[in-house]
Amino acid sequence: MLLSAFRSLAVPILAFPGLGAAQFLNSFYNPILPGPHPDPSCVFVPEHDNTFYCASSSFNIFPGIPIHASQDLINWRLVGNVLNRPTQLPELAISVGSTSGIWAPTLRYHNGTFYLVTTMVHDKRAPEDPSRWDNIIFTTKDLWNESSWSDAVHFDFQGYDTSPWWDEEGNEYIVGSHAYRVEVGIHLAKVDLKTGKRKSEWVNLWNGTGGLAPEGPHIYKKDGMHYLMIAEGGTGLGHMQTIARSKELYGPYVPNPANPILSNANTTEYFQAVGHADLFKDQRGNWWGVALSIRSGPEYITYPMGRETVLTNVTWEKDAWPIFQNPVRGSMRGWQLPRLRQNLPGDGPFVTEGDNNLQFKPGSKMPPQFIYWRAPVPENYAISPEGHPNTLRLTPSRLNLTGTDGNSPGPGGQTFVARRQVDTLFSYSVDMDYKPTAAFEEAGITLFLTQNHHARFGITLLPSPNSTTTLTPHFTFHAISYIPVPPSLTIPIPPAWHNIPLTLQLRTVNTTHYSFGAKPAGGKEPMKIFAYVAGEIISWGFTGGLVGVYATSNGGEGKTEAFVGNWRYEGLGQVREHWDGMRFDFE
Ligand SMILES: *[C@@H]1O[C@H](CO)[C@@H](O)[C@H](O)[C@H]1NC(C)=O
Ligand SMILES: *[C@@H]1O[C@H](CO)[C@@H](O)[C@H](O)[C@H]1NC(C)=O
Ligand SMILES: *[C@@H]1O[C@H](CO)[C@@H](O)[C@H](O)[C@H]1NC(C)=O
Ligand SMILES: *[C@@H]1O[C@H](CO)[C@@H](O)[C@H](O)[C@H]1NC(C)=O
Ligand SMILES: *[C@@H]1O[C@H](CO)[C@@H](O)[C@H](O)[C@H]1NC(C)=O
Ligand SMILES: *[C@@H]1O[C@H](CO)[C@@H](O)[C@H](O)[C@H]1NC(C)=O
Ligand SMILES: *[C@@H]1O[C@H](CO)[C@@H](O)[C@H](O)[C@H]1NC(C)=O
Ligand SMILES: *[C@@H]1O[C@H](CO)[C@@H](O)[C@H](O)[C@H]1NC(C)=O
Repeated sequence: MLLSAFRSLAVPILAFPGLGAAQFLNSFYNPILPGPHPDPSCVFVPEHDNTFYCASSSFNIFPGIPIHASQDLINWRLVGNVLNRPTQLPELAISVGSTSGIWAPTLRYHNGTFYLVTTMVHDKRAPEDPSRWDNIIFTTKDLWNESSWSDAVHFDFQGYDTSPWWDEEGNEYIVGSHAYRVEVGIHLAKVDLKTGKRKSEWVNLWNGTGGLAPEGPHIYKKDGMHYLMIAEGGTGLGHMQTIARSKELYGPYVPNPANPILSNANTTEYFQAVGHADLFKDQRGNWWGVALSIRSGPEYITYPMGRETVLTNVTWEKDAWPIFQNPVRGSMRGWQLPRLRQNLPGDGPFVTEGDNNLQFKPGSKMPPQFIYWRAPVPENYAISPEGHPNTLRLTPSRLNLTGTDGNSPGPGGQTFVARRQVDTLFSYSVDMDYKPTAAFEEAGITLFLTQNHHARFGITLLPSPNSTTTLTPHFTFHAISYIPVPPSLTIPIPPAWHNIPLTLQLRTVNTTHYSFGAKPAGGKEPMKIFAYVAGEIISWGFTGGLVGVYATSNGGEGKTEAFVGNWRYEGLGQVREHWDGMRFDFE
């Protein structure tokens, strides 16, 4: 109810993309890619009708390494995912640990080919174990055709955050960060990008300015100088961007006296952890930077969307160092933006458009914004199966969302499909047609960060309160995190709600809390809230919140399928500045 009032008093705290841009040709809002879209790397491709493309990292998520496109730097459409077939990188299936999987990618366009260089990290393996770092190259000539991305080509480097570079003679190089806690520093080698074969020794170019974890290197050549830009300080509150330059590619690199060139560290800004940047130039010759940032304020307690992609304008004059616009904020003025263009090719959704009652129509495919935790067991998902048109069928996995130990992929996978949370305030709901027949089997909705950090609310069959022999449907709520969580709940489902489809809802109550609710699907009954959980329980690590559905036998023999319909995700507001925590009583 209060929402409409909210929207009108909202600017600029709750602002909607497009609005400002229509008024001021140089104003834009951050984040440009809200939700978990960390470690951005972007290119501008004039040959593609002046299109900007950005890649971000995806860790254990499959499909992985999303690419977004824009022609105005404001409206970003999902093009597809570089890692879209399990066979491209079978190692993702054995990824153990929530901080493992695909780390920072670098996207580059060179002579008609797109290159995506990244690292599959086995983060639970010892730092000195060479198999911890699996460095890989993907290529395509047709970025709009997802299936044209190559299989991973592996190259040998004991580190991460690898980035390609080409000199004028056509030599191909990779620059990367040497494994932290082994031999810190930025290293370069000649590598054949087609075969992954290394053609020279790794050479240590620079160690940064002394900050923790020098990483995320990119090389740019301008006015006869090589610029080596890196991130330092770790990807938390101390994050910063630094730069050095050298006439010769191999150095010596002289640091910019003005370092760090980009950081919100030691400020009270709402946007924190700014760093891990990339640079590109638009069709007017203006420079821009992208970086990751965390909307947490210096309190750094509640940031369920994790590391998001932000934009800032950059001044880079002849022979001079690049100057980033500091600090990064939610509402920015930069260079004149390219004219608003929403008619990009492709049929992927724009990043903030939400899911408007997805119906899973017969013959349709899984929506491109849908994601799994590691590659799915394909048989566990079916769209509009026989007898159940306009539904997504979930076949339960034996494992629950935690899996065997909270870190490992388990046998049979985890039946779970989700999308990213991309708004501070949102409402997510599905209609769940589920009639469990075996004890303890369960299907429901979840707010998910990792196997070890999530909350779930489902329907399960449990012994009746007054009888050990009869089983009755219950709502169940469980949470798991690195901090204390609310107690688990099992609540008998009212008899009038038995054997009918129920709407299950997860929504934000305010900027720090979520609620789980239910009601009969389609009816006029109000949503009844059964549990609350704090966003803090999923404010951890390298990734960010996902919302979705799951089905599990909880280790038992249950095989009852759940049918999901009317999948809805609606953004209700973006907080882009400190907010006093006022309650949001929206429906
Ligand atoms: C660019 O690509 C074309 C066609 O793939 C190839 O013939 C040419 O050698 C490449 N040029 C450079 C500089 O790599
Ligand atoms: C997309 O790429 C795949 C794999 O290279 C190819 O088989 C297919 O024909 C391409 N589709 C289009 C529309 O070009
Ligand atoms: C980086 O640090 C290592 C270890 O301290 C040192 O041996 C090396 O000379 C440093 N590299 C540069 C380019 O300064
Ligand atoms: C923030 O403050 C700490 C402590 O004074 C200092 O070590 C660090 O360099 C500062 N970081 C930035 C980016 O200014
Ligand atoms: C960013 O753009 C604004 C114009 O809106 C300009 O005043 C400012 O100097 C620019 N900053 C940098 C670092 O380029
Ligand atoms: C999930 O499964 C694991 C392994 O079977 C089990 O230890 C754990 O208790 C289950 N968690 C919940 C919340 O059911
Ligand atoms: C269980 O027993 C209590 C007390 O007799 C009763 O009030 C309640 O309705 C019973 N519940 C069910 C599900 O039968
Ligand atoms: C947000 O909502 C939760 C759950 O209702 C409540 O406990 C908390 O006090 C609220 N926070 C604010 C600042 O209103």
